[in-house]
Amino acid sequence: MGKFIIEESGRLRGKLRVSGGKNSVLPIIAATMLTDETCTIHDVPALTDVLVMQNLIEDFGGTTNWDINRETLAVSVKNICKTEASYELCAKMRASFLAAGPVLARLGEVKMSLPGGCAIGSRPVDLHIKGLAALGATITQEHGYVHAKARRLHGANIYLDFPSVGATENIMMAAVLARGQTIIQNCAVEPEIVDLANFLTSMGAQIRGSGTDTIRINGVESLRGATHTIIPDRIEAGTFMLAAAITNGDVELTNVVVDHLKPTIAKLREVGITITETDEGIRATGSGHRRAIDIKTLPYPGFPTDMQAQFLSMLATTPGTNIVTETVFENRFMHVPELVRMGADIKIDSRSAIIEGVPKLTGTQVKATDLRAGAALILAALSAQGVTEIHDVYHVDRGYFRFDEKLRGLGAKILRID
Ligand code: EPZ
Repeated sequence: MGKFIIEESGRLRGKLRVSGGKNSVLPIIAATMLTDETCTIHDVPALTDVLVMQNLIEDFGGTTNWDINRETLAVSVKNICKTEASYELCAKMRASFLAAGPVLARLGEVKMSLPGGCAIGSRPVDLHIKGLAALGATITQEHGYVHAKARRLHGANIYLDFPSVGATENIMMAAVLARGQTIIQNCAVEPEIVDLANFLTSMGAQIRGSGTDTIRINGVESLRGATHTIIPDRIEAGTFMLAAAITNGDVELTNVVVDHLKPTIAKLREVGITITETDEGIRATGSGHRRAIDIKTLPYPGFPTDMQAQFLSMLATTPGTNIVTETVFENRFMHVPELVRMGADIKIDSRSAIIEGVPKLTGTQVKATDLRAGAALILAALSAQGVTEIHDVYHVDRGYFRFDEKLRGLGAKILRID
């Protein structure tokens, strides 16, 4: 399952290019199934989640050509050969469910296994299903599968109970080929939604309002192939800024969209980290003095839930009482017991973690329970006394390309044992 051996690493210093965004490339690869022409995607990060999505495209009958070194993926789905996705692939990754909208829109039928729960919560897809039903799909759910059928989808006025990222994406991808206008209200406004809308627009879709809480789509008869470059990964960027903060280091990141990092930057500055914009990107400089802060995760542009675990690692050694409230997922504190094993003083009270900063953490054996928890433990280990062994690092490979290599390039003492 692989493990990292990490020694206390001193200040991280250097410059690093951020990869393309995992949470942008996954829906965009799914969207290539909306056309029978070839799509070329640049800045595709070599992540295991991307490999699963590539396998899903091929499972549905598409062909792909992935040049990992040039980070370019060409996808061509001339025909979709079946309506049912392989259970094994769907069970591997929740984002596989993003194939539902495109396949339904292209074929008029799709059968997907309900995504299993995952470490951070039950993560239902009821909002996805309500949206597809509103677009005219007849949906049955039995034996853990969702089966949707529609001769031709039609536009609808959909109000999302919660600004779900995935539900917004699935509904968008179904609506672009529906007959008539679709209005999605209270939709997600994350940068990844805008990136998907830009890709769909370059395919010939008619979409307005992405990035606001109301998206308007006029359905078209068909879509063409397109070329697209994925936006930088704002969570990877945030994670490396945290690495500089935790080690009192000095790291410059290139290939960033500073606007996407605003909530993360605001909290880093509040705790006492110096963040400066440079000609090529952004620079994070730690100092020995940090002050306690409170954090509440919210949908964008609120503080990102995907940065919560990484911040918690920094707050574990930030003097004073820090309170972190996780409002997006119901079980996203799995990293806390592992940090407590390293000497952190953290108590969980319902959806909040109360962190009393301690002078230093100490290395020991811990395990990654999910993607961002794994990243958080790596960050904590960089400044912990002694040696830390982090097990089950396959979680980290889902969202970080060659994470150990990139950290070593900044001076981290990290070794991977597979
Ligand atoms: C996306 O997940 C991201 N994944 C997540 O990143 C991210 O944490 C999340 O958005 C929130 O920003 C990808 O984009 C591949 P949601 P998604 O639908 O779409 C509830 C990472 O670490 N909900 O906005 O699944 C749900 O249970 C991952 O990179 C419903 O109740 O997020 C959760 O509590 C983790 N019904 C909340 O909404 C639904 O039908 C947010 O979920 C859908 C969601």
